[in-house]
Amino acid sequence: MNDRVKSDIHSIISGKRKFAFLLGDCCELLELFPENSMDCVITSPPYWKMREYDVRDKNKLIGNEKRPEEYVKRLVHVFHKIKDILKPEGSAWLNIGDKYHNKNLMGMPWRVAFGMQSDGWILRNDIIWDQMKGTQSVKDRLRDVYEHLFHFVKNKTYYYDHDNIRIKPRKKAVVTDKKVITATGVSGVKYRNQIINSAELNELEKEDALKALDEVLGEVKKGELVDFRMTIRGTQRTYHSNSSKFSGRAKELADKGYYLLKSRAKGYLPSDIWRVVPEDKWRKDVHYAVFPEELLEIPIRATCPEDGIVLDPFCGTGSAVSASMNLRRRGIGMDLSETYLNLAKERLQKQAMQRVLF
Ligand SMILES: C[S@@+](CC[C@H](N)C(=O)[O-])C[C@H]1O[C@@H](n2cnc3c(N)ncnc32)[C@H](O)[C@@H]1O
Repeated sequence: MNDRVKSDIHSIISGKRKFAFLLGDCCELLELFPENSMDCVITSPPYWKMREYDVRDKNKLIGNEKRPEEYVKRLVHVFHKIKDILKPEGSAWLNIGDKYHNKNLMGMPWRVAFGMQSDGWILRNDIIWDQMKGTQSVKDRLRDVYEHLFHFVKNKTYYYDHDNIRIKPRKKAVVTDKKVITATGVSGVKYRNQIINSAELNELEKEDALKALDEVLGEVKKGELVDFRMTIRGTQRTYHSNSSKFSGRAKELADKGYYLLKSRAKGYLPSDIWRVVPEDKWRKDVHYAVFPEELLEIPIRATCPEDGIVLDPFCGTGSAVSASMNLRRRGIGMDLSETYLNLAKERLQKQAMQRVLF
């Protein structure tokens, strides 16, 4: 059995095959992987005391522990094994939701995150997944509509393709021989007058600010920027704080008399709040905690190189593997449940039939 699993793993690592599903307890299966072999892990384990899963070996099922501490210990243990098989530049993404127990919000996601940090992981992001809809009937607290998606790394430097996840600006600047107007209608005329007429800036600062304004308009003209904003001392105020002790912008304003905020044509990075509607079309009748593939796009694009391998140790119906195929990566999924793995295989087969996999 172990030899067959090892050979499956090897066929993915060597590139002979693009995906594989492994049946069993992830703690045991992770032992069979070579060290430093996976590019990226994306997973959503069972949340503490949240659901029943269709598995034969209930003892190995994670999520039914009596006490939260036991749950945290088990998950941290799984992630310890994941750390061993993840490449030094790899990333691990953990989607996890919270739980009210005896009316008390347990803070399970952060308990696990703290446990993982104590075990050596570096936490780079806590993404709030706003699921936008909740179906609760509680009358003495608010509806809860978000879950966490934690991004962990093994080392301070790691693979991160930020240009691959930038959000492109919707509007472009208008550039003709006669005029340059940014995407939101800034021509620079107002800023120029404000600088010239400023009672706060001295002559040297005015000269410097006008030069910077010309330069930034030049960048718009060349197509490098789509927009910009200028903050001039005494005319506009800083967004966050006027104290140069807390704000780099406030310091720039005090030292130079102005600062510029630029919107680059190549786009901006997504924020750490994502609004993604939970999956409700894929096998909802059989598995109730399915990843929407949209949620996986940024993690895969940013932290798994093309043709790299994404591993999901709690893969259920195989969403992470499916998304990896769609984004031209390889994928390995594992689950305790044969029923879910059969669904996952069926799903990937259908996908392969719909189009030729690279
Ligand atoms: C939240 S679901 C994952 C759903 C998945 N993200 C999807 O899109 O379908 C968690 C899965 O973990 C599996 N599981 C629980 N304990 C496990 C263990 N020890 N080893 C492997 N899988 C396990 C369950 O069978 C369940 O399918």
